[in-house]
Amino acid sequence: MTKPAILVTRAVFPEVLAHLRQYFEVTDNQDDVVWTPAELIAQLQSKQGAFTTGTQRIDAALLAACPGLKICANMTVGFNNFDVAAMTAVGVKATNAPDVLTETTADFGFALLLATARRMAESEHFLRAGLWKNWRYDLLAGSEVHGSTLGILGMGRIGQAIARRGAHGFGMKVIYNNRSRLDAATEATCGASYVSKAELLQQADHLILVLPYSPESHHAIGALELAQMKPTATLINIARGGIVDDAALAVALKNHVIAAAGLDVYEGEPDVRPDLLTVANVVLTPHIASATLPTRRAMAQLAADNLVGFLLHGKALTPLN
Ligand code: DGY
Repeated sequence: MTKPAILVTRAVFPEVLAHLRQYFEVTDNQDDVVWTPAELIAQLQSKQGAFTTGTQRIDAALLAACPGLKICANMTVGFNNFDVAAMTAVGVKATNAPDVLTETTADFGFALLLATARRMAESEHFLRAGLWKNWRYDLLAGSEVHGSTLGILGMGRIGQAIARRGAHGFGMKVIYNNRSRLDAATEATCGASYVSKAELLQQADHLILVLPYSPESHHAIGALELAQMKPTATLINIARGGIVDDAALAVALKNHVIAAAGLDVYEGEPDVRPDLLTVANVVLTPHIASATLPTRRAMAQLAADNLVGFLLHGKALTPLN
């Protein structure tokens, strides 16, 4: 029997490719070429499945040009690269990779919060630049994490995992805002209380963003929201570029409207605004919140399992439509 043909759109773990080759005719991209939309269409035209990484846009134009396509399986939990409505309209299955990255991403969110509040990047630059001459009572003094108020915007699986770390590990008061309020038992497990978005902005000492990107969450944090935060507050974005208005944030950091920010995601990444690169009170990382090898392997394996499940057995494990 002929194996279905699939495209693996970016470089991936060799063992995951080997697994896929047992079931599919696989075209890989181990040279990790970042294809233009036209090149992606050319590669996908004869394929039934695509293993995607969250950076390939799957939209109506691509779908019209690839009528044989049956499924796109993201190895990421975020799926703002998919036009799910367009995929549903032409009967293409969309899947993402939830759960397997929750705890690792929450660990990173907390690491970025700690690094930002305690000015770790700034301290390292200071030391490497040979500026450390003496101990001083206020040298690179940051803000307190334990016992402070942690605000979480977006209370899905990752938000809840961050809340548990804050409440139970660092003795923080945890407040959150979400489209829908959690049930009482989940709030108790997370040690978190529901507040309005305005209360969240005003009360949080550290505000972490963990909501999915959508047209509704575009620029959920802009100049107006930053102005409502405490001047001593930190802002952490591990969600998606576009949720924060990066231009407004750069101005706010420069003018000390808030104390500091920690960013793992950016508008227009991998490009980062030059004014964010030059302010001192920001910790910048290149979209690595889920990047441990065991977690990335589990994410890739789940995408592979979705392809096998759907193309061979008609059932995806983590469908979006
Ligand atoms: C995700 O899974 O959406 C992450 O942002 C990718 O690392």
